[in-house]
Amino acid sequence: MKTIYADMTHGIDKEMMKKAGHILLDGGLVAFPTETVYGLGGNALDAEASKKIYTAKGRPSDNPLIVHIADFDALKDIVKEVPQAAKDLADAFWPGPMTMILNKNDRVPMSTTGGLSTVAVRFPDNEIADAMILAGGGYIAAPSANTSGRPSPTTAQHVQDDLDGKIDMIIDGGPVGIGVESTIIDLTEDIPMILRPGYINMDMLRDVLGEVRMDPGLHSADPNFHPKAPGMKYRHYAPKAPLTIVEGPAEKVVAKIGELAAEREAAGEKVGVIATDETASRYSHGIIKSIGSRAEEITISMHLYGILRDFDDMNVSVIYSEAFDTPKLGQAIMNRLIKAAGHQVINV
Ligand code: TXA
Ligand code: MG
Repeated sequence: MKTIYADMTHGIDKEMMKKAGHILLDGGLVAFPTETVYGLGGNALDAEASKKIYTAKGRPSDNPLIVHIADFDALKDIVKEVPQAAKDLADAFWPGPMTMILNKNDRVPMSTTGGLSTVAVRFPDNEIADAMILAGGGYIAAPSANTSGRPSPTTAQHVQDDLDGKIDMIIDGGPVGIGVESTIIDLTEDIPMILRPGYINMDMLRDVLGEVRMDPGLHSADPNFHPKAPGMKYRHYAPKAPLTIVEGPAEKVVAKIGELAAEREAAGEKVGVIATDETASRYSHGIIKSIGSRAEEITISMHLYGILRDFDDMNVSVIYSEAFDTPKLGQAIMNRLIKAAGHQVINV
C-alpha cells in the first residue's frame, strides 16, 4: 500500500482533509496529530476498520481503543448515559488530554472495545484532529500510531518509521505539545479511578470530582496483579536496549550513573545516558542526551519517547536514566519510564 503524506504543519489543507474524511468513511486508516501523541484513526463504529487498526499496529485484539469525538454532544449517542461527573469533567478539561471510561451502547462494536461493555472516549485539543474526526463521521477509534511495543510517536516521522506502507495516510501536524498519552479516568467505578496518569493529574481531577483514586494495579511490579486498563499490562514503550532508572538526590544520581556508564563503556559497550539540561554537562561517559529542563517539566514529557527512539536508532546496548518526579507531570512521566525500564530502578 502507498501511504499518502499530507503536510499540515502550516495549517489545514482542505483538499487533503476531505480526502482523509473519505478514506475514514470508506473504512481506511489515517494517522493524525493530537496534543498528546500521534493517533492511528479508523471509523470507530465500523468493526472492520477497528480490526484493520489492530493488524497495522500488531496489537493484541483484547486491548481496547479510545473513541475520539470533536463535539461534546456526540458523546450521548455512543454511551448508555452521560453521568453528571462526565459533564463536569468535560466542562473542565475537554477538548484536552483526558479520556473517560463510560458504559457503551450498541452502536459501538465489540471489536472497538476489545470485547468490553465499556468505552473510552476523548475529545482532543488539536484543530487538525478535530477537523479530521468531523470529516470522518464524528467517531474515530485511535490508539497511538506506533507499532505495538515501540514508544508512542510524537512526530510524523516516528509514525512513518513504524507504519509507512501499512496505512492509507499520515497527516503531519508537527511535533506534539505534551508527549505522553491522555489521562484515563474510569467513571464506571463507585469512586472514579485513574487507569493511566497523564497531563490532567490527580489534583486537577479531585478539584472537579472530589474523591478520586489511582488504580492499585498500576504501579505493581507483581505480574499477577493486573491494572484495569488492558493496555497498561503490556511491556509498552520499551526501547530495544535495557533501561535502568537511577533515583535519589541529584548529586548521588549523577555520581552513580557516571560510574555505571564508565564501567560499561570500559567493557566495550555503547551506553546511552538520559540527563537533563541541569545535569548533562556533568557526565563524561556514554552518549549523553538531555531530555529537557526540570524547571519546565513539559519539555521532559515532550521528549521522552523521542529520546528512547533515538537510542534505538543508535543501537546503544544499555541506557541509564535519571528519575523525573516533577511536581505536576511526574506521575505520568515516571509511569511510562518505569514501564520502559521493566521496573529496573536503582535507589541511591
Ligand atoms: O492520548 C491518547 O490517549 C492517545 C491519542 C492518540 O489520543 N491514544 C492512546 O491510545 O494512547 P492507546 O490505544 O495507545 O491507549 C489506550 C489505552 C489502553 O491502555 C487501553 O487498554 C485503555 O486505553 N482502554 C481503552 N478502552 C478501555 C476501556 N473500555 N476500559 C479500560 N481501559 C480502556
Ligand atoms: Mg499506545
